[in-house]
Amino acid sequence: MKHIDISELFKNPSAYYGKEVTVCGWVRTSADVKPMVFIQVNDGTTSLKNLQLTIQRDSYTNEEFLEKIKPAMPVGVALKATGTIIESERNGIELEVADIEVLGGCPTDYPLQKKGTSVEFLRTIPHLRTRTNLFKAVFSVRARLAYAIHQYFTDHGYKYLHAPIITNSDCEGAGEMFRITTQPWNAQFKTEEEYNAKDYFTCKAGLSVSCQLEGEMAAVGGLGRIYTFGPTFRAEHSETKKHVSEFWHVEPEACFVDINEIIDMAEDFIKYVIRDAMDNCAEELAFFNKFTERGLIEKLKNVVESDFVRVDYTKAIEILEKNNAKFEFPVKWGDDLQSEHERYLTEVIYKSPVFVVNFPKDLKSFYMKQNPDNKTVAATDLLVPGIGEIIGCSERETDYDKLVEAMKIRNMALEDYESYLDLRKYGTAQHSGFGLGFDRLVMYVTGVDNIRDVLQFPRTYKHIY
Ligand code: 4AD
Ligand code: MG
Repeated sequence: MKHIDISELFKNPSAYYGKEVTVCGWVRTSADVKPMVFIQVNDGTTSLKNLQLTIQRDSYTNEEFLEKIKPAMPVGVALKATGTIIESERNGIELEVADIEVLGGCPTDYPLQKKGTSVEFLRTIPHLRTRTNLFKAVFSVRARLAYAIHQYFTDHGYKYLHAPIITNSDCEGAGEMFRITTQPWNAQFKTEEEYNAKDYFTCKAGLSVSCQLEGEMAAVGGLGRIYTFGPTFRAEHSETKKHVSEFWHVEPEACFVDINEIIDMAEDFIKYVIRDAMDNCAEELAFFNKFTERGLIEKLKNVVESDFVRVDYTKAIEILEKNNAKFEFPVKWGDDLQSEHERYLTEVIYKSPVFVVNFPKDLKSFYMKQNPDNKTVAATDLLVPGIGEIIGCSERETDYDKLVEAMKIRNMALEDYESYLDLRKYGTAQHSGFGLGFDRLVMYVTGVDNIRDVLQFPRTYKHIY
């Protein structure tokens, strides 16, 4: 008999009362309480709800019990069971087993025997942690958020663009690009140029840190509004709770849109995806509210119902300077915001998501639109409580000469950016965009406080899990 998803049974329990079905899944717990045996199974179609299998012990001889039922009871066993669905107080439904078959046994050295194992321990077994409630819930919400993101942009006329991951332009100019090469260095190469010329692509190549430049070229190149959503890579030497070397990046780019309009869109977008998660992942969020962040649901409700704060960088620095005694790194105008400053603004001062707008131009990348004050750029970071920056956003410089000047100041090789510059020559148009760190959004929505616990196999400085 073809098996049915456990989620289907829970969707409409009464439709299955008295019916014979086959289910498959992994044993979560089991108990032998004569005259009954209970086995809770989960097949991955629900995050938290398990189906209870009930077995009448006395319908088996002792030998049959030892041969057929006992091997199906250890935690972690994969099994298949056929029987009749009956009404039950527990989750509304249970399966009275007529036949049970072990698909994959699970010996006693299975590392998930005990309840309540720590996230640190689970990080050492990433291939098994998706069997736990926490990780089932995290990956369900993660998948739903990704779906909502595609939905939002598609509904708002943004085309999903597949930009290359292999590139030779370092968009952020922070020197954090991973190199790609197929040839080892050897003494036969006299210069780096010679080495690069003999390499696979006959030039320097690496993994993209951001798809923004390709996104801009697609948008101004005639598509108007696009978004990319895929992994990007950064060789950052940081071991914080919010940095990974391979993160998922959502990057929309929109023509004929200024900085204020893109900020409005970013706010509307964040609220939309959070509302979607609240509507479609209520069970998971209730779980997180209990186990990862108390008050999470209230927090998310506030986020979708209130306006995000917008504060000028200069004003933010004035506020922070008054509190410099509290910081490890005191700040002044011209400094970048450290995590502690970001968190102070969003957690202590405003208690809300905050857009910090108009950063000093020397702090930011070459592509940002220079403001008339000649000191700042039309750029903003969205900061949220508990995490800090989740979005980096700006209006882009469209003036050819100003752009070239900004690139020269940063010693960029103009010949690598010819196509990018071409679009400032041939029908340049006002445009703006942002980058959302998707994994950080998942942290924010689930209350999980370490980015290593929202990715299946996180890659971080010095670690491939
Ligand atoms: O602020 P960033 O560096 O901006 C850009 O890359 C722009 N080119 C985006 C654009 O305008 N299209 O990165 C954007 C976001 C950050 O706000 C952060 O949430 C996330 O990407 N991010 C990381 N997330 C996890 N691990 C890392 N190492 C990250 N680096 C950036
Ligand atoms: Mg940034």
